[in-house]
Order: sequence, then C-alpha cells, then structure tokens
Amino acid sequence: RSVYVNGDYLPEGEAKISIFDRGFLMADGVYEVTTVIDGKLIDFDGHFTRLQRSLDELGIENPMDRDAWLEVHRQLVDQNALDQGMIYLQVTRGAPGDRDFVFPDPETTKPTVVLFTQSNPALVDSPKAKKGIKVITIDDIRWGRRDIKTVQLLYPSMGKMMAIKQGADDAWMVQEGCVTEGTSNNAYIIKDGRIVTRALSNDILHGITRAAVLRFAQEAQMPVEERSFTVQEAMQADEAFVTSASTFVMPVVEIDGARLGTGAPGPLALRLREIYIEESR
Ligand code: PDD
Repeated sequence: RSVYVNGDYLPEGEAKISIFDRGFLMADGVYEVTTVIDGKLIDFDGHFTRLQRSLDELGIENPMDRDAWLEVHRQLVDQNALDQGMIYLQVTRGAPGDRDFVFPDPETTKPTVVLFTQSNPALVDSPKAKKGIKVITIDDIRWGRRDIKTVQLLYPSMGKMMAIKQGADDAWMVQEGCVTEGTSNNAYIIKDGRIVTRALSNDILHGITRAAVLRFAQEAQMPVEERSFTVQEAMQADEAFVTSASTFVMPVVEIDGARLGTGAPGPLALRLREIYIEESR
C-alpha cells in the first residue's frame, strides 16, 4: 500500500514520523475520514471544510489548499486501486525537537501530514446493516470541544471495547441523561415516523454524513427534529440508527439490552441507507 507523508508517496513500511511529533506525544492533531465508493470520493468538500474548521479552532495552519488535498486523495485512490473503502488523513502541529506544553513556533515547526487508504469491499453491501447493531450506553466523559475532530480517541476506543465485552457492537455516550453521539458516529431515533437527533453544538461532532442524511430525509418528506433525546426515550423508540462516513446509515436494533420494535432493522432506517448510497455514489 502506498501512503502519503509530508509531500512523499511511499510504501507504508518506509513511512517515518518523528518521536517528537505532537500528534504522538499530545494528541495535538486533527483527522478526517472520507469514503470511497466505486473509486469516487464521497463528500470531499464537506470533509475539507470541516478539516479547515478543526485546524482553525486549534490554530494549526492548513499545510495545503483544497485542490492540493484533492490531488493527494485522488493519487492514493489511483496508486492503491481503491474501489471501496476510506481515506484517512491526519494533520498534527508537527514535531519540534523536544517535548513542551508550549506550542512550537509555526515558522520553524511545520504541521505533519499523513494519509493512507483502507480498503473495505463490504462497505455498501454490509452484512452488519442487514442485521443491525446493538449499542450500550456509557457516560460521556470526553472534553468539551467534541466539534473539533481531534485524534484524542482513547475514550471512544475504550467505549467500543466496553460494548464488545458486553456482546454489543458500539456505545452511545450520555450526558445529563441525553445521548450525545456514538463512539464514532452520530445517533438518531425514530418515533411515529419522526427522526430525532441531537442539535449541533460543541457537544458533538458535526457529521458530514449527518448533514447529507438530514437533507435527504427532508427531501423524502420525513420529519426531522434536531433536539436532545434521553436514553429512556431511545429505548422506547420504533427505530434507531447511526451515521458516519464509514457506516453510512447503520440501523440500531438494541439499546442496553432492550430490543427496538421487532429487533430487526427498521424500514425508515433502511430506506435512508438506500437513499444515502444512491444519492452519494
Ligand atoms: N468518525 N461523531 C464522532 C465522534 C465521530 O468520530 C464521527 C466520525 C462522526 C460522524 O461523522 P462523519 O459523518 O463526518 O463521518 C460522529 C470517523 C468515521 C472515524 O473516527 O473513523
């Protein structure tokens, strides 16, 4: 597999990053995950715009303009003959020659840029989407700027492991009784035909898939309510689902052991998944 590191395309085994990189030492960096279907990038501009915003919020200079980013994405798709899967990109504040809590001088320390591809032939025709996933709920103890897509993913990763340990697939995080989001996705419930998902704020990541799915839902005359919902409300919902670049629309069939509806993926969630794939590809 060919990867991109600071201007060079290299075989993955030859890529090198400094041990002083602030992404490695302090999780001082941001990332994006863009889906590829049939060799085509899904929502590149949405991901680029969010990348710019994350970098601005942390005061890291964007090392490339939109067209340069697009070119690297396309090169990697070509070089790795990627048909279905993801492109991961990461920008960190760079590698000063030491560890220091003070940000390095941006004149001398340039951001580190890494991109690689991940193939997943079962992205569109996903066995998981046919069965639906089970989620558990856990306390949301992350920091208060979840709108910035930083590489600090330890707690979400621990949450996913807690879910797997309990025989579930993922965890929904809860703050003051209401669901914020999934470990790596946005969370939704459906009751009496109405789609409910938390409104955008610093509490959640502003999902690119979320924006697309809400647009498609409105176009299909499905009513959408952007508001917080409690765990109890979720357990009594007719359907539930999550969205992300790597799962599209993924039906949720169980929350904390309580089956939703019949325990099979709900019809509206499946319809939204179909619409999303059809419209994006
Ligand atoms: N995760 N919320 C969180 C906490 C996320 O990490 C993600 C994405 C989303 C959905 O955002 P989008 O629709 O733009 O992918 C919501 C990516 C896929 C990841 O970490 O792999």
